[in-house]
Amino acid sequence: MSETTYNVAVVGATGAVGQKMLETLEERNFPIKELTLLSSSRSAGLKMTFKGKEYTLQEAKPESFEKIDIALFSAGGSISKQLAPEAVKRGAVVIDNTSAFRMTEGVPLVVPEVNEEDIRNHQGIIANPNCSTIQMVAALEPVRKSLGMKRVIVSTYQAVSGAGNEAADELREQSQSFLNGEELEANILPVKGDKQHYPIAFNALPQIDVFQDNGYTFEEMKMINETKKIMHAPDLSVAATCVRLPFFTSHAESVYVEVEKEGVSVEEIKQLMEEAPGITLEDDPSAQSYPTPLSAAGKRDVFVGRIRKDLDDEKGFHLWVVSDNLLKGAAWNSVQIAERLVANQWL
Ligand SMILES: NC(=O)c1ccc[n+]([C@@H]2O[C@H](COP(=O)([O-])OP(=O)(O)OC[C@H]3O[C@@H](n4cnc5c(N)ncnc54)[C@H](OP(=O)(O)O)[C@@H]3O)[C@@H](O)[C@H]2O)c1
Repeated sequence: MSETTYNVAVVGATGAVGQKMLETLEERNFPIKELTLLSSSRSAGLKMTFKGKEYTLQEAKPESFEKIDIALFSAGGSISKQLAPEAVKRGAVVIDNTSAFRMTEGVPLVVPEVNEEDIRNHQGIIANPNCSTIQMVAALEPVRKSLGMKRVIVSTYQAVSGAGNEAADELREQSQSFLNGEELEANILPVKGDKQHYPIAFNALPQIDVFQDNGYTFEEMKMINETKKIMHAPDLSVAATCVRLPFFTSHAESVYVEVEKEGVSVEEIKQLMEEAPGITLEDDPSAQSYPTPLSAAGKRDVFVGRIRKDLDDEKGFHLWVVSDNLLKGAAWNSVQIAERLVANQWL
């Protein structure tokens, strides 16, 4: 990495993603000159530690971005819509974790293993895709590139931390209540602010984000639309069903993929996974080896296992894809974009 250092702001530093962002910047020894930690007025004044040094949180305002080179945003879509343009106006490059700009034309939507080159065309904002999309496209891109790809059908098994710290707290409290034989109180999930809330503890909720007019949820539509944008594959057929489950970290996905090439073997797909950057193959039925949300938690890679050929369609394959939603799904992918931005001098 270059010797140059950068003024970095983390917006939403106290959040589930923001905290991982700081951990990742520290672990990767990102070349930071000055670090600015931003939150809402609620947390302003609180202290957080980075590399052994204490930082005081400040309320995020347009002026917070004076002299900032790189701003990592994860404070919700409305904050990004309001403050990201202000940061850009003041000369910062924004890497945004929310859905605010992902489908905006001219805003690169980037998973470095798939479309790093798109970073080059940024006009100030680079969008970090949805967590469940990132891990799926990272695993599927090597297959698409080598074998062609016609159709993807995915069902997700997603962790509560994907809905932020409040959702994780809700699972903790409800689990305790359930074991105590008490009534479960639900105020956050499936979607904070939606009409109905259902318990997540010992349950499964087939709703992530709000419903759209077509009957799909917004999370499902994110997976569908973002996959096509990241892969530059507008004609790829994608269908998704997204489900929230009662564990804290990592999203798991059952992915069905139909390739274009004829006569592909499971071994070929396994080899592609073994050679792909950022992917770890964990696939040995004889040793009961496969990834799980717990085994992937805290790791930066995307883990793939249970690769099988469809029994009826010789071009169809099934994969099990697991990754830490707060790392590759959010903080690590963002820091990786920042690393590529700096290494390629694309600021
Ligand atoms: N969790 C994931 O797996 C994941 C993955 C990819 C993308 N994302 C996206 O990242 C964003 C944050 O998610 P999260 O899970 O980290 O949520 P979270 O745990 O609820 O954290 C929200 C963060 O936003 C800050 N914030 C709230 N209102 C603000 C305001 N008016 N001005 C400045 N900061 C404000 C909060 O600060 P206070 O401490 O002051 O409240 C907190 O730091 C969301 O848009 C989410 O969709 C999340």
